[in-house]
Amino acid sequence: MKVWNAAKIMASKGAARLPCVTAYDYAFARLADAAGIPLLLVGDSLGMTVLGHASTLPVTMDAMLHHTAAVARGTTSAMVVADMPFLSYQVSVAEGLRNAGRFLQEAGADAVKIEGGTFRAELVKTFVQNGIPVLGHIGLTPQSCNVIGGYKVQGKTRADADRLIEDGQSLAAAGVFALVLECVPPDIAAAVTAAVPVPVIGIGAGAACDGQILVMHDLLGLTADKPPKFVKAYAELAGTARSAFAAYAAEVRAGVYPAPEHTYSAVGAVQS
Ligand code: KIV
Repeated sequence: MKVWNAAKIMASKGAARLPCVTAYDYAFARLADAAGIPLLLVGDSLGMTVLGHASTLPVTMDAMLHHTAAVARGTTSAMVVADMPFLSYQVSVAEGLRNAGRFLQEAGADAVKIEGGTFRAELVKTFVQNGIPVLGHIGLTPQSCNVIGGYKVQGKTRADADRLIEDGQSLAAAGVFALVLECVPPDIAAAVTAAVPVPVIGIGAGAACDGQILVMHDLLGLTADKPPKFVKAYAELAGTARSAFAAYAAEVRAGVYPAPEHTYSAVGAVQS
């Protein structure tokens, strides 16, 4: 069993803040794991960050299984949560359970994430009863961008805020070990966090949440476009990578790389 698991994440409510991040491959999963990040989400945001799509909707089960397996191989301590892609859990509970199980059985995930509120309670209950821990996701749910009219701040009216609290409570009662709360004003996020008995992990939801999650590319300064307002970049890796590519290209063109120290000697070569 890993250091971090659903029970330990749940027990951190009110005891310790959770710094979570998305990851999509082995190399970065290893780095985040070694840094002590407790939860790595293989987000369907990989549709944009890694695959260059305009939204999460084209992301398939095959793509998510492929990237989740890479992240799982790079992780020894962090809990790995696989994001269930669009239409992998919406059609029926049975199909959702089958697909959720594939993330644990074939890709080495420790849990799955699904989007949606109270109307997902039955699905959550079924997953948990069958041994699959679930991370909920309410507020801005990107798989519904065509219904909600884009990527907009949620919970702005009294009725919407009340619904978020009700959604959080019913998902917690159904068995989620934690909830992602995306793009909600900080006072509403504080009210949801206070009302829900499992950790609320915010993204664009202010400081009162029990934890935070950021998309890895935003956190590392690798985002192709302008990142959202709530993002803080802790590095500027895009600039570093661009300079490294340019320096390499210049040295190859000038015949500077490879230098003698980058070449093999013939001494001790195996004779055929
Ligand atoms: O897909 C994703 O990366 C997510 C996070 C933004 C929470 O759902």
